[in-house]
Amino acid sequence: MNVEKLTSAEKALLEAARDAQSRAYAPYSKFPVGAAVIDENGRVHSGCNVENAAYPMGDCAETGAIAAMVLAGGRRIQSLLVMGEGKGLVTPCGGCRQKLREFASADTPVLVANRKGLRARFTLGQLLPESFGPENLKP
Ligand code: THU
Repeated sequence: MNVEKLTSAEKALLEAARDAQSRAYAPYSKFPVGAAVIDENGRVHSGCNVENAAYPMGDCAETGAIAAMVLAGGRRIQSLLVMGEGKGLVTPCGGCRQKLREFASADTPVLVANRKGLRARFTLGQLLPESFGPENLKP
């Protein structure tokens, strides 16, 4: 799988996530992560992980990207990309899968990349099957 096979929107996601990753504040884990989402209007929003000396208080990159989208008025995630290094795929953590679920659907593409390019494609439904979302609150 290579970058050439990405759509132009996906390339924009990759670039935004790469830029975000380079701004990560990860002095404790030394594991910088960048995330980017495309909203319902085609706009790209990004975030990086922001750690804290009180370790559990740190935020994941996805959390920052979601906050940026909401602040800009976006309400639906069309697709998203997470970028991190290391041997294993940097897929969204369990908590972030649920946070993403609020604004995305089972068929929303979740792209996983490192600095060199795309590594894998999932859907949110694959990563968070039988999930609980806003519709479940309806009577
Ligand atoms: N991290 C993210 O930002 N997103 C993920 O999907 C996985 C993990 C961050 C949290 C922490 O700052 C660092 O990566 C190591 O776990």
